[in-house]
Amino acid sequence: MPTLYFLMSGLFIVMAVIAALDASLTSLNLLPWFNGLRWLRVHLITLGAMTETIFGVLPLLVAIRHGRPRPAFRWDIWLALNAGLLTLLVGIPIVNEALIVAGGTLVFSAAVLLIDQLRRMGPTVGAEHAASPERHGRRFYIAGLSFFLLGILIGTGLWFGWSDWLRIAVPLEAHIHANSWGLMSLVFAGLIVDTYAMWAGRPLAWPRSVTPIFWLTVFGALGLVLGPWLQSLYFTVPGLILHQTATLWLMLNMLRPLILPPSGSWRGARALEPGIWHVITSYFWISAPVIVAPLILLGVRGVPGVTIEQNAPQALIYGWVFQFGFALLPYFFRRAFLPDEPARLGGNWFSLVAANLGGVFLWASIFVESLYGPFHGIAYALWGAAAVPVTVELWRIITRGLARLDAVGGPAATD
Ligand code: HEM
Repeated sequence: MPTLYFLMSGLFIVMAVIAALDASLTSLNLLPWFNGLRWLRVHLITLGAMTETIFGVLPLLVAIRHGRPRPAFRWDIWLALNAGLLTLLVGIPIVNEALIVAGGTLVFSAAVLLIDQLRRMGPTVGAEHAASPERHGRRFYIAGLSFFLLGILIGTGLWFGWSDWLRIAVPLEAHIHANSWGLMSLVFAGLIVDTYAMWAGRPLAWPRSVTPIFWLTVFGALGLVLGPWLQSLYFTVPGLILHQTATLWLMLNMLRPLILPPSGSWRGARALEPGIWHVITSYFWISAPVIVAPLILLGVRGVPGVTIEQNAPQALIYGWVFQFGFALLPYFFRRAFLPDEPARLGGNWFSLVAANLGGVFLWASIFVESLYGPFHGIAYALWGAAAVPVTVELWRIITRGLARLDAVGGPAATD
């Protein structure tokens, strides 16, 4: 049944590829601009592809890591999430308040129900010691989903003055920060903690660092949400430092065993897989805004602050969130649809190069003003192209998985 989430995720990825190509063609002046597509482009990836998969895998992963039986499929959560997403997909582009509030409330309810489900799935008494539960992803997921609640609340009321009574100074930024630095960062870190050993074939370098990484990310994200909320650098700057420290530590945890395998011998075949490099290079694009942020804050000449603020969120989502998905989505799809085959990360060398070149062109479009349109168009074309092999890979996994289910179910009835 969790496959239902994956099917929805696959559907949204196809739509996300179409939206990326649309962005490319409109930037190159080959298509007219459609109102509302900007929102769709980001949210088809964040809410559509990623949230669907996250909701599908988290209960299963927590059950496996805590030695619990496979949890029953929660139709209530699936229905609330998907009805909410579809309502938002219709409501936001036409800015219809009733639809947006209904959609936001449904997604909020789905997130509350999932948090409650994960909260109840703590380690079983016997397994508690052996499995070192403090080194698992469950608390990353619960904390990440709690930031999601905040992100949904701010996002749903963004155009209806809710930020006035919530006293949020810069609501769009607070929304983006709660969802990216909070939800996505924490959930992705939890997924790495829970699955790295399986796809990299070796453990993280310093398993005991998982707890400090968790707290650094939580407090970092809190500072990054409170910063725009109260418009105070006293929260943003420490938040950024804590969050970046956690990210760097997590990266080193992944990189060290790949470069220096635990046994001392080079067993690096897996380390050379493009999927692993998709995961690692994706994190460069979460750090890119951090690298230029001080230049904007100091008002350095030639640094186009406004253009960066307008484009950085999209670069973050395509470069980091989408690219992380290129590797992890096929991995989870394989485990769900083809459980008898060894699961590996997705993507290939082409998607790796295209996804990262897309980020380079997007940032180049910001700094080379005279070539803004063409570079912007090339960036989205590259991101769209990078997603194609991954989409085909997902499609093949789904069709093979469904064929397998058909075979298990025996010959179809004839009339
Ligand atoms: C129910 C959930 C959500 C709602 C109701 C929502 C709503 C919104 C709204 C109304 C905007 C403003 C669009 C504009 O100014 O044109 C926005 C922007 C944005 N949201 Fe969300 N959002 C949700 C979830 C998420 C998630 C999970 C993420 C993940 C990171 C996210 C990331 C963003 C980003 C990056 C932008 C800025 C887009 C840009 O400037 O191009 N949102 N959202």
